[in-house]
Amino acid sequence: MRIILLGPPGAGKGTQAKLLIERLGVPQISTGDMLRAAVKAGTPLGAEAKAYMDRGGLVPDAVIIGLVRERLQVPDCSRGYILDGFPRTAAQAEALETTLKDLHLSLDHVLCLEVPSEDLVSRIAGRRTCRNCGAMYHLRFSPSKREGVCDACGGETYQRDDDREETVRQRLLVYEEQTAPLIRFYDGRGLLRRIPGTGEVAEIFARMVKSLGV
Ligand code: AP5
Repeated sequence: MRIILLGPPGAGKGTQAKLLIERLGVPQISTGDMLRAAVKAGTPLGAEAKAYMDRGGLVPDAVIIGLVRERLQVPDCSRGYILDGFPRTAAQAEALETTLKDLHLSLDHVLCLEVPSEDLVSRIAGRRTCRNCGAMYHLRFSPSKREGVCDACGGETYQRDDDREETVRQRLLVYEEQTAPLIRFYDGRGLLRRIPGTGEVAEIFARMVKSLGV
């Protein structure tokens, strides 16, 4: 199954993608995670991306499209994937269509997580991520047992550089301007399913599973 998870920053795309990949047995392709890995590894891509990410802007389409095209050719994608954070612009959505067409494939579903903006800001402000294994916590909603220490691996948890309030506001603006129009784009193609993204994580996951019929 080839699925796009759409939704604003903090909507829970990463959280739900991790549950969906378990259920469907397909990989999660998160462009945000790929870029953060490049930043951590100190590659030229990471250095270029960091400047955009720290400002709350989008990394240029050409860079992202190349990155995703390459990733989709890895054999683990043969049974499908969950795209998390891609596409984010009309150009990215069109490039994805072309890539899939070239491969004689198509998308199955686009799930859009809907969360009020006041919840987004508090979710992002409280997010903590493990530097070592990437496990995710929230200071209030799902805290680690010891503050600053990952339950899963004992690594240090940290706040993402782009999760500071001013950058978050910019990311939300960029989402409204550049990514939200994709909701209409996919609705027009009959692929869009709107999922209320508030409530418990398990409750939201149950809505997604029901919507997908899996
Ligand atoms: P990216 O990493 O994709 O960030 P994002 O889309 O802004 O999304 P987030 O990771 O902030 O949120 P999420 O929806 O995954 O929520 P999460 O599950 O973490 O992108 C970062 C940057 O990279 C971009 O700004 C851009 O610069 C660049 N980039 C990436 N892709 C790009 C692209 N395609 N093109 C150009 N540039 C690109 O949840 C958030 C918090 O809420 C967590 O703490 C979680 O524990 C908590 N939470 C989750 N669900 C619930 C719930 N139900 N109740 C309470 N708390 C919850």
